[in-house]
Amino acid sequence: MSKNVSVWSSIPFWRRSAAWVTGFAVVLLIWLTFDTMGQINMGTDDDLKNGVTKRVPAPTVINYHITYEMSEKRGHEVPVIGDKEPFFGKEYSVEEAAAALHLGKLTSQAKNCMNCHTLLGNGAYYAPDLTKAWLDPAWSESGPMMAMTGKSTREEAIAEFLVNPSKYPTHARMMPNLGITPDEAIGLVAFLKHMSSIDTNGFPRNFGKEQGDTNAH
Ligand code: HEC
Repeated sequence: MSKNVSVWSSIPFWRRSAAWVTGFAVVLLIWLTFDTMGQINMGTDDDLKNGVTKRVPAPTVINYHITYEMSEKRGHEVPVIGDKEPFFGKEYSVEEAAAALHLGKLTSQAKNCMNCHTLLGNGAYYAPDLTKAWLDPAWSESGPMMAMTGKSTREEAIAEFLVNPSKYPTHARMMPNLGITPDEAIGLVAFLKHMSSIDTNGFPRNFGKEQGDTNAH
């Protein structure tokens, strides 16, 4: 064999390279898996009480005021959990909040909201993205929906809309009545409020958001 065969045509070289690249990728993927698990684990009620920020807060986040603020450091908006506020006129216990969220999640699956809407990046784009729908200024005191539904809080206005959507057409497209009961509507609003508190790295972008008091609009 001639001495000046290039390394690029050496089969043992490519075998060794394949083994190293595969080994490195396996280690990297295992590390990323554990890193992601830590990031997406749901926080606890104590985290909320102690002001510990979690990407996915505990269900009792429905007892807090949530706004969406620009983070200069991260270059996009992040949900900010503020002071306590009543949800349907009361403070939910850990068990009640978990039960409401569970009912809301089951109802969103049973009624297939994703068939028209998008939740956390999954679903359709026929109707508005629901990921941050709780923060939609349309439901704030200065928006039209409280007056239209005759309700004085955001949660009651959204629940009323969900029970009777075809009574309140707000866009060119109308949401049909899906036979949602008042209890299911409370669960769905808890589900929507909790989802809006999840740190989604600023997704969806350019969302017409509800900002804190320092950024009054
Ligand atoms: C058949 C399609 C369809 C299904 C299924 C559907 N929606 Fe809608 N939804 C719409 C349309 C269209 C609109 C916008 C029209 C409007 O606001 O009147 C809308 C609007 C909304 C809004 C107001 C959005 C905002 O940002 O203000 C909410 C909240 C909502 N839907 C929640 C739900 C939930 C929760 C479910 C599942 C239980 C659901 N929708 C199922 C079509 C649908």
